[in-house]
Amino acid sequence: MICKHARGEELHALLEIENACFGEKDSPLTKRTMGYHLRRGRIIGAYEGGELRGYILVFPRKIPRVYSLAVHPSARGQGIAQMLLQHALHVNARLRLEVRADNLGAIALYEKLGFTCKGLKKAFYPDGCDAKVYVSP
Ligand SMILES: CC(C)(COP(=O)(O)OP(=O)(O)OC[C@H]1O[C@@H](n2cnc3c(N)ncnc32)[C@H](O)[C@@H]1OP(=O)(O)O)[C@@H](O)C(=O)NCCC(=O)NCCS
Repeated sequence: MICKHARGEELHALLEIENACFGEKDSPLTKRTMGYHLRRGRIIGAYEGGELRGYILVFPRKIPRVYSLAVHPSARGQGIAQMLLQHALHVNARLRLEVRADNLGAIALYEKLGFTCKGLKKAFYPDGCDAKVYVSP
């Protein structure tokens, strides 16, 4: 398993993962938005035998923000998200992110890697769900 910048021709593979991972309530990235970030080199993919299995998208900010992290349902539970986050932590001294308060799997992942919850944004998501704000150790 390796992490590297996703390439332009992988747009469709990224969208397939996106749509397999996020439902309507999660506002999945559109083709246009995914393509925009792909062209700017903001998407790191996780590859197994050359196949894209997951990705992480980090926005460059004063404290860089993990905007999206997704692993194809068929490839979960193998440490891929952990590897992608560790890669992002290697490249960026600090990270912050928002996560749905009901996304217990993702929250367990961030806490396993030492992220701490710094606050709550009430009704942050369109369906009214709160967001927990996490920062890297
Ligand atoms: C959340 C997600 C990225 C995890 O991907 P993954 O590759 O399966 O996660 P990993 O195998 O790297 O898990 C690493 C650790 O995270 C925690 N974890 C991950 N998924 C978990 C789950 N569903 N339930 C509980 N803990 C979980 C565990 O501590 C795990 O360590 P362990 O295997 O030693 O117990 C994946 O389930 C996903 O794409 N979900 C849909 C999109 C999403 O919610 N993205 C996050 C948005 S903020």
